[in-house]
Amino acid sequence: MILGRKLTGKTMKFLLFILFSVVHLLSLASGKAIYGNGPSQRTLQEVKEEIARYGDVAKSIINLSVYGKAQNRSYERLALLVDTVGPRLSGSKNLEKAIEIMQQNLKGDGLENVHLEPVKIPHWERGEESAVMLEPRIHKMAILGLGSSIGTPPEGITAEVLVVTSFDELQRRGPDAEGKIVVYNQPYTNYSAAVQYRMEGAVEAAKVGALASLIRSVASFSIYSWTDLFVGKGVEDDSHLPDREPIDISVIGSYLVEGIQEYQNGVPKIPTACITVEDAEMMSRMASHGNRIVIQLKMGAKSYPDADSFNTVAEITGSKYPEQVRWTVWEQDVVVKFQFLETV
Ligand SMILES: *[C@@H]1O[C@H](CO)[C@@H](O)[C@H](O)[C@H]1NC(C)=O
Ligand SMILES: *[C@@H]1O[C@H](CO)[C@@H](O)[C@H](O)[C@H]1NC(C)=O
Ligand SMILES: *[C@@H]1O[C@H](CO)[C@@H](O)[C@H](O)[C@H]1NC(C)=O
Repeated sequence: MILGRKLTGKTMKFLLFILFSVVHLLSLASGKAIYGNGPSQRTLQEVKEEIARYGDVAKSIINLSVYGKAQNRSYERLALLVDTVGPRLSGSKNLEKAIEIMQQNLKGDGLENVHLEPVKIPHWERGEESAVMLEPRIHKMAILGLGSSIGTPPEGITAEVLVVTSFDELQRRGPDAEGKIVVYNQPYTNYSAAVQYRMEGAVEAAKVGALASLIRSVASFSIYSWTDLFVGKGVEDDSHLPDREPIDISVIGSYLVEGIQEYQNGVPKIPTACITVEDAEMMSRMASHGNRIVIQLKMGAKSYPDADSFNTVAEITGSKYPEQVRWTVWEQDVVVKFQFLETV
């Protein structure tokens, strides 16, 4: 995937050279000598200087992929993968399909020793889910259960909402949270500040006795476009809509940003999902006007025993010191993560 589908021999060698260099630098940076047995004697400053000397090489790679022959290549390959396979949750059939496709791509790109290594991975399924505001007005909300969340009972959880903008506020208003659904409308200043609410929101809400928690998507902006199509029809009226109407899925993808969350030992597990920035802001306004907000939350999320899957492994043997340097790529979830596993 880093390498394009139709590389000329020259480009290939060029890229191999670059990759070789990267391995070299990484090994130095981690203090490991790759051309000998002793530890590297180089100072951090020397390593920094050496890395800086590769600035032009790095620029050429960027240029190649932004303006040159490889223009749009990553985007197009990614688009093909996500269009064909769809979401690739850990433990899903889609993930297995994606791994198969990527294995073929790596082989097609001429990487060496392409193979799969069996591995056990978490298996969680989101299931059917919905959130409907019942008071102060009927409003069907878009939600996405957070990875690893438990589900609700089949009849759902119907409870009053407590909106807070921070963990500090949750602490101050702790006694108010008992038996409620906590909605976090945390401002987005930067990712690392906002993502805490996704990771720890359910645990903190459970500590003060909440039944469930909803977090504002960890994003600076969202476009809740299908609201205009469906709001006003009411919950009873939209029973004619299939649960997974295509418009639902495609649009949800663009305005709900989710990821995994973590429970803590000794703290009750409560269901948790993300909502849109718009709904979080709206509930904040409603609460500040003194409106009582009631939500019915239904989530069919479930965890299963760890599933069988694979790490995808491919190698590039160093062109200058083939017996000493081998670049190994290890892909956990196929698209986003690369890790240098081994240099020998
Ligand atoms: C960047 O790529 C373009 C198109 O391939 C090429 O014309 C140009 O010389 C390159 N610039 C650099 C600095 O490599
Ligand atoms: C890359 O995509 C842009 C925007 O769609 C397009 O203008 C350009 O021609 C594409 N380049 C190549 C090499 O296909
Ligand atoms: C992120 O935002 C918080 C405030 O919400 C601030 O304290 C922190 O320094 C910011 N971090 C970065 C990396 O900008």
